[in-house]
Amino acid sequence: MTNNTKLRWGILGAARINQQLMPAIVEAENSELVAIASRRPGAATETLAKYAPQQKDVKIYDNPESLLADDAIQVVYIPLANNEHAQWVLRAIEQGKHVLCEKPMALTVADIEAIEKAAKKYNVTVMEGFMYRFHPQHARVKEIIDSGLIGEVRSVRSCFSYLMQPARQYRIADSIENGSGAMWDIGCYAIHAARLPFYDETPVAISAMAKHIESGADISCNGIIDFGDGKYAHFDFGFEHARRAEYEIIGTKGGLKCHNVWAKQAETPVISWWTEAGQQDEEILPLANHFRLEVEHFSDCIINDTQPALSLEDARINCKIILAALESVKKGQQIKL
Ligand SMILES: NC(=O)c1ccc[n+]([C@@H]2O[C@H](COP(=O)([O-])OP(=O)(O)OC[C@H]3O[C@@H](n4cnc5c(N)ncnc54)[C@H](OP(=O)(O)O)[C@@H]3O)[C@@H](O)[C@H]2O)c1
Repeated sequence: MTNNTKLRWGILGAARINQQLMPAIVEAENSELVAIASRRPGAATETLAKYAPQQKDVKIYDNPESLLADDAIQVVYIPLANNEHAQWVLRAIEQGKHVLCEKPMALTVADIEAIEKAAKKYNVTVMEGFMYRFHPQHARVKEIIDSGLIGEVRSVRSCFSYLMQPARQYRIADSIENGSGAMWDIGCYAIHAARLPFYDETPVAISAMAKHIESGADISCNGIIDFGDGKYAHFDFGFEHARRAEYEIIGTKGGLKCHNVWAKQAETPVISWWTEAGQQDEEILPLANHFRLEVEHFSDCIINDTQPALSLEDARINCKIILAALESVKKGQQIKL
């Protein structure tokens, strides 16, 4: 951060995830929370009282349009339901706001392309909220790979699962087309993390299989992304398994494992690695709050006019892979990209 500028943030929805993001915006050195909107009477006030009780002058709006019309607001955080993201990102951009949108940014590639176009036209910064990437443990992973310790990366395995509790059933109560189900909720993370060491590579094909429930939502899925030349990324996620959030990267000379990919503020980040030459280590990294780091990074990019770590191109590629995986499940065959 280069100066004492604090960007003024507004939140577009009284969602449960505000439990994490609201304190993150309040605590971020370069950001301040100035408004929150909810279409449900009393919900915004209740959310504010619950997650940021010490914040006094936060404006409450009873609809998202009024918040977007507030000229004092510079950045908008969108935690709405998945099938509402794209339309509200576009409306926020058209009001000249910078936008941090929860994952997944959109349910179609065409929507992300429209967002890219609008962001350019209105000269604003837009980023998909894959908060986990702002935890320093992933920078350490990149450092290990770049050092050549494990050789050339050949394959990845990423897993994200937990046993879904009744209070979270609303996330699988609708069809995949409406943004419900495991793929849009947690699969997008597993795919994003599986792409980590292949960030600059273009995927060539996808194969996936999944289990569905009555609502039409998927509840678990396994798949492989083919990056060509024998480079594969396996992803595995579901709501019917014990809790796991990990990835393993195997190279020509060794491998590494990130044991807690979605490490929360109080959870110890651990990376272990080994080499064919017999070296091995388990690194315990400092605790970090990736939500706060995400908010600070985003405000920083706007203040200093730099590109965010997660580009809209990244959002487009992730969406393309998700849709190809869904198509592969539906058709029972590999999908070429
Ligand atoms: N980054 C992360 O770690 C993380 C974790 C969880 C979820 N997410 C993402 O964050 C977004 C929000 O997820 P969430 O689980 O927090 O969603 P949620 O609580 O269902 O909220 C989504 C929106 O639905 C409305 N809403 C909330 N509770 C409602 C209720 N009881 N009845 C009717 N409408 C209600 C709210 O809009 P109004 O206030 O305008 O009514 C809210 O903004 C999703 O895109 C999800 O993928 C991210």
